[in-house]
Order: sequence, then C-alpha cells, then structure tokens
Amino acid sequence: MAQDAAPPRGAPASDIDPFSPQHILNPYAWHHEMRELGALVWLTKYRCFFAPRYAEAFQIIADYQSFSSAAGVGHTNFNKEKPWRQPSMLLEADPPDHTPRRAIVGRILSAPNLRVFRSGFEVEANRLIDRLLQQRDVDAVPEVAQAYVLKVFPDAVGIADGDRMNLLKYGTMVFNAFGPQNDIFDESVRDLGEVGPWIMERCQHRNLEPGKLGDQVYQAVSGGQITAEEAPILVRSFLSAGVDTTIDAVGNALWSFATNPAEWAKVKANQGIVKQAFEEVLRYESPFQTFFRTTTKDVELAGVKIPGNEKVMLNIGSANRDPRKWERPDVFDVSRDVRGHVGLGYGIHACIGQMISRLENEVLLTELARRKVDFEVTGPTEYKVHNTLRGFTKLPMRFKQG
Ligand code: HEM
Repeated sequence: MAQDAAPPRGAPASDIDPFSPQHILNPYAWHHEMRELGALVWLTKYRCFFAPRYAEAFQIIADYQSFSSAAGVGHTNFNKEKPWRQPSMLLEADPPDHTPRRAIVGRILSAPNLRVFRSGFEVEANRLIDRLLQQRDVDAVPEVAQAYVLKVFPDAVGIADGDRMNLLKYGTMVFNAFGPQNDIFDESVRDLGEVGPWIMERCQHRNLEPGKLGDQVYQAVSGGQITAEEAPILVRSFLSAGVDTTIDAVGNALWSFATNPAEWAKVKANQGIVKQAFEEVLRYESPFQTFFRTTTKDVELAGVKIPGNEKVMLNIGSANRDPRKWERPDVFDVSRDVRGHVGLGYGIHACIGQMISRLENEVLLTELARRKVDFEVTGPTEYKVHNTLRGFTKLPMRFKQG
C-alpha cells in the first residue's frame, strides 16, 4: 500500500479506495490493513479521515456534539454541497431538531407497538418455508430475503401492494449516496426521476393503510407534534432505511448459518438463542457498513487534530471485527457475548427500526429452526457492489427438512 511521504495532520495516510469494486467485494483484508495502520487514517483519494478500529468508531458515534450528522452521513458535506434529495429528518439531523422527531418515531417503532405484527410475520414466514421445502433449490436473495421482507415490512407500514421493487431501487439510491459520487452512485440514481416521485406519493396519508405504522406518523400531525409537510418525510425514512438493510440481514444470516452448520445446529436445538444469534449475524456480516460524520469544531481524536467541518469515515464492519474488541472476530459464534456490537449504530442515531428488523429476522429464523429446516449453499454466490451496504445479489441455496 503506497503511503504519503508526509502524512497530513499526524495521521498515517493511505491511497486505498474503499469504494472500488475490488475492496467492496473483499472488505475484511483492507479493514485489517487499515486497523493495523492506525487509529485514524487519512484517505488521500477522498481527503478525509477514517476510523477503522472499534474504540474510535464508537467514540465518534457516541459524541454527536463533535461529530454531526446534519451535514450528511455520506461523503458529501451538505455544508459545502447541495444534497441530492431533501435530507432525512432523523438520520441527517442533529439535536435539537432531531430529538422530538426521534421521540415520535421511536414510539411508533417500539417493541410494544410492534407486537401486533408478530403473528402476521409468522404466517408469512411459514408460507415461505412451505414453498422453500417444495421448491428446494432457490436463489435466496429474490426468493427468500426479498420475497419475505417486501411482503411483511411494507404491509406493516401500510403501503399498497404492487411495484414494491421500486422500494429496492430507492433504497439502493439512498445508501449508495452515502459513498462518493462514483460510477456505483451514478448507476443507482439513473431511475430517480421515476422512483423519487413514486416514493413520495406512497408516503402521502391518502395512500397509507389506516392504523398501520405510516398512518401512525400522520396521527402525530393531528397531535401537533409535527407538521403536515414533515409527516411524509418521516414515513419516507421507514422506506429508505428499512428495506435493503433488512433484506441484506436476512441473506447474510442464511449464508452465515449455511456456511457454519454447527452454529445452525445450536439454534435448532435451542430456539431461545435466536435473538442472540441474529445479533452475531449483525456483528459478523454487518449489512450497513460505511457512513460518515462531520466535525462541528476542531476535535482531537487518537492524538490527531481534526479541523472543524471535515468528514470522518466509519466502517461498522471493520469495528465489529476489530480484534482489540473481539476475541476470534472472524469466527461466527452464536454463543459469544455480542453485546456492544455497532451493527445497528449507537447513541442518539442508533437504528430506530431495529425492533421491527429484529422481529422480521427472529420470526423467520425461529420458524426455520422450529421446523428443523436445513439449508446449504449450492453454487457460486455474488455480493453486491454497493458503496455502503454488504449483502448478496445471488445466493443459490437448497432447503430441506432436517
Ligand atoms: C438489519 C437491518 C438494519 C440495519 C443493519 C440498520 C442499521 C442502521 C445503523 C447502523 C444506523 C445508524 C446510522 C448512523 O448512526 O448514522 C441506523 C439508523 C437508522 N435506521 Fe436502521 N438499520 C436496519 C433496519 C432499519 C429499519 C427496518 C428501519 C425502519 C423501519 C430503519 C430506520 C433507520 C432510521 C430512520 C435511522 C436513523 C435514526 C436516527 O438518526 O435517529 N433501519 N440503522
């Protein structure tokens, strides 16, 4: 790895391109390389710092006063460049604006409010499993992960059936936009003219099923907590952040268990560990890998002075496999104490959809385990070339009664 002769501002420098297809497809080797290089690495290509280790990544996410989200959680600095869409009212906002919105959505996506969906998710999971046991050989991306999540999640939000593949296109745009404006981003926003208006139309009150999660956001308008203009943007945050991430989590879970059958055997033997096992999936193969913060002032981190208004890159996948934090980090072990993983972020911006995402995954894994279903990878897999998310585009699998 070539390095600058004089590393800027006291940090080691690297000319690596984390957003090149080669590095996206094989992340763990360069994560290791960056963690060994330093606690904070200057990326010459993107002229920003990168915190590859767990401790500094955690410190950055926890310190929202020094590391802002309002200038965007992607590489684009909204203080300097116009965002490609109206920023998220949650993800791309700081307190005090962020706080009341988070309280409203947090209540809607809380575990007690979601309980009502469990039995419906179980019905869908079992329908899917019946189909899988009949069909046996499937590509688990479209036929398991997408089929299940695109059914249960938009149903819970209250989105009408039809054209749900647009949710995938939109999610791909949103998450690719957290990287640099490279070919991957350009390719994913090609359909923005069509998909952008489609999404905003789906988020209008008239198009949301009464009583479901989207409608509940609008109830906060009648309560005077948010304005009528803000409601669709909040509903949009469910649709942008909740679909691709969960689909990738389902695919990553199936692959992790299929390639570690002894761990699946533990889950089948004791479904009480499904929750913990899913957390290990989030650590081991984190779906949401890369995002950024922007310094609000001059900040010292790991002995390096970072000037204000600078982007700092984080990689959840790298933090979640840092041997300084985790024993045998490259081993998928459902028995480990996985507390402290940052697969769902941490602090005031920690994933607000974590309860529904966990519910979707737990129900599917529990039903597979309860019915003693086994699955294996049957052919070459393909990962997506994506600026931010880690998941499969192709996952050939065989499902059978164990
Ligand atoms: C396994 C699936 C998921 C993963 C891995 C994931 C991951 C994350 C992570 C790492 C963050 C923190 C980002 C940051 O600190 O800048 C986050 C925030 C967020 N997530 Fe998720 N997420 C998942 C599912 C969902 C779902 C299902 C929804 C919607 C229902 C959702 C909505 C959000 C929102 C709105 C935020 C921003 C919260 C805030 O800024 O206050 N996510 N997610």
